[in-house]
Amino acid sequence: MNFELKSLDLAGAAAEKSEALVVLVPEALAKSGKSSLSLLIEQSGKAGDFEGKAGKLLQTYRVDGVAAPKVVLAGMGDGSAKQVRQAVSAACAVLKGSKIKKLVLAFASTPQAGAIRAAVLAVADTTYVYTTTKPKAEGRSLTRVLLGLPEAAPWRAELALGQALATGIEFTKEWGNRPANHATPTLLAQAAKGLTKLAKIKCEVLGPREVEKLGMHTFMSVAQGSKEPLRFIVLRYEGAAKTAAPHVLVGKGITFDTGGISIKPSAEMDEMKFDMCGAASVLGVFRALGEIQPNINVVGLIPACENMPDGGAVKPGDVVTSMSGQTVENLNTDAEGRLVLCDALHYAARFKPAAVIDIATLTGACVVALGGVRSGVFANDDGLAQALLEAGDTALDPGWRLPLDDEYGEGLKSNFADVANVAGRAGGAVTAAKFLQRFVGTTRWGHLDIAGTAWRSGAAKGATGRPVGLLVHYLLGQAGSPAKTVTPRTAARRQAVAKTAPRAVAKRVA
Ligand code: BES
Ligand code: MN
Ligand code: ZN
Repeated sequence: MNFELKSLDLAGAAAEKSEALVVLVPEALAKSGKSSLSLLIEQSGKAGDFEGKAGKLLQTYRVDGVAAPKVVLAGMGDGSAKQVRQAVSAACAVLKGSKIKKLVLAFASTPQAGAIRAAVLAVADTTYVYTTTKPKAEGRSLTRVLLGLPEAAPWRAELALGQALATGIEFTKEWGNRPANHATPTLLAQAAKGLTKLAKIKCEVLGPREVEKLGMHTFMSVAQGSKEPLRFIVLRYEGAAKTAAPHVLVGKGITFDTGGISIKPSAEMDEMKFDMCGAASVLGVFRALGEIQPNINVVGLIPACENMPDGGAVKPGDVVTSMSGQTVENLNTDAEGRLVLCDALHYAARFKPAAVIDIATLTGACVVALGGVRSGVFANDDGLAQALLEAGDTALDPGWRLPLDDEYGEGLKSNFADVANVAGRAGGAVTAAKFLQRFVGTTRWGHLDIAGTAWRSGAAKGATGRPVGLLVHYLLGQAGSPAKTVTPRTAARRQAVAKTAPRAVAKRVA
């Protein structure tokens, strides 16, 4: 899908040839001439048939003086990124099924910062079609989107950022949606290797032998019930000097979570194919970094395996020694995410990181606490928590901070090991985080529990691509010097754009 920007007033938008024109109308629109579109807005407003409140729509057809046959007026409210997203999603939803190839999105007035990024992401999100195991499904018909604004030039950097994010988010969605037999640890590792085609990205994959040598026995204990061999994926994005401390992202990569011997009920168990969405979000972030090319170092770590019941599976009560040397009593084999993450978090210390952030579909308790709106955010550092929350707000991919008081960790005591992998039912998202915290030492650490936000259930079942937006905005905010931006086309273009538009992205992101 190709996005373009153009300076357009309403008369210009009316003249653009396309199959559909969406006009984004603010709640308070100053009169804008006597073109056919401004008359339509004015008259439908007077008649009470349309208003500029976010998400309100008026669909019309073959309007005199408008080149596009389908015209949708979409209220964009205050023109904020959030309300523009709502408007574009609503408009794209009513156009769904009409197999549009070229769409014009025209802003009747200049929106607020973030609006173009949000519009790009909303178009990409609503027109996404899963294809990996549904090859006959009709793919996305939309190939060209023209974004029209009173003055286009200042929005170029935002457009490039939106496109890079859309590419990363789509990568995360597609891998998240793949069923477990099409997203094994081995296939995830291949996907990570594939990212090395992008500039500045390297990847190393460790198998069972190397992982054993490292002493990652809690990770290995989860994998031991499965016929699929585990993989430990190490990705690097090298955008800054070698001396710059990297930000480490750790993604939970349970490619299927049956619960193991503490087996889950059958209903909706298929959704546990999404238990690698943390890993998929790390892959998506690297996909986006490859496009944006910011001046920062990032390491991505993915412990990937299945959690299966089997004659060889780990049993409730088994005690294993983590890479950190702490022994862990496995009181519930369904609390496996923390067991693969604790070894990866310990491993992360060797990069002397500026910060480590893990991303995990970790607890059903977090779904109970926050639902599907905000991801759970934990951090042992207030500045880091603030940065993650702000990045989430800017990206429209929000989180909510949850506590880490030491008292929450008391239930993890074990009579037979240094720590147990579960406490009681109460405060389950927090006790899981307290378990992880034991393995990060003094490193600045953040933990995103995305159990409620990584995918949707029911008729719209599918991965959301969250929290790629939050993470990319966080990383761009940490970049030592202004983030460089690129259009996702050619390396030559990349050079040119990086020279002309770097500051603008950094400013809009900050
Ligand atoms: N992957 C699940 C968490 C999960 C469950 C995410 C439902 C989304 C929806 C995780 O491995 C798990 O099973 N956690 C247990 C922990 C419990 C045994 C302490 C849970 O949340 O029930
Ligand atoms: Mn589980
Ligand atoms: Zn799990």
